[in-house]
Amino acid sequence: MHIDKYERYWMVAAALMLGAFFAALLASSVVFGVHLPDPAGRVNPEKLSETAFATPGLRDMGDNHYEAHIVAQMWLYNTGEVVDGVPTIRVPQGATVTFNVTSKDVTHGFYVEYHNVNMMIIPGLISRGTATFNEPGTYRIVCHEYCGNGHQNMTAQIIVEPSA
Ligand code: CUA
Repeated sequence: MHIDKYERYWMVAAALMLGAFFAALLASSVVFGVHLPDPAGRVNPEKLSETAFATPGLRDMGDNHYEAHIVAQMWLYNTGEVVDGVPTIRVPQGATVTFNVTSKDVTHGFYVEYHNVNMMIIPGLISRGTATFNEPGTYRIVCHEYCGNGHQNMTAQIIVEPSA
């Protein structure tokens, strides 16, 4: 069978590229340990009342570190506190907050504006993300997974109070 010289070059080049891609994939998973994020834990969405999500809100872990447990549901976040009708997390300036979020009904989103927390909230799983709030102000949490008729109203806020 005759194969044109240039066609042969391209076959070799394509094979080399495939090899390089496979090597890069192998290196990132085996050498650098890159994985999809695992859920931080599992809960039975029907039995949240038997877990730490029974009493949503902040726990002070000391050293300006807080653990928040938040339940997402159609169409609100239960954060344990409400300010002017808006579910609220209130922390002092400089606080580091670890958000533990789960859903009691459908898939929701959890995005904290201006901070590096952007998660999917899936019933049965706990999503965990941590952010530090250095600037005082009010930061919105929004649901960015379409979850039904009230999706666009599903927000909460983080109030970061200035340190005196
Ligand atoms: Cu919850 Cu969209």
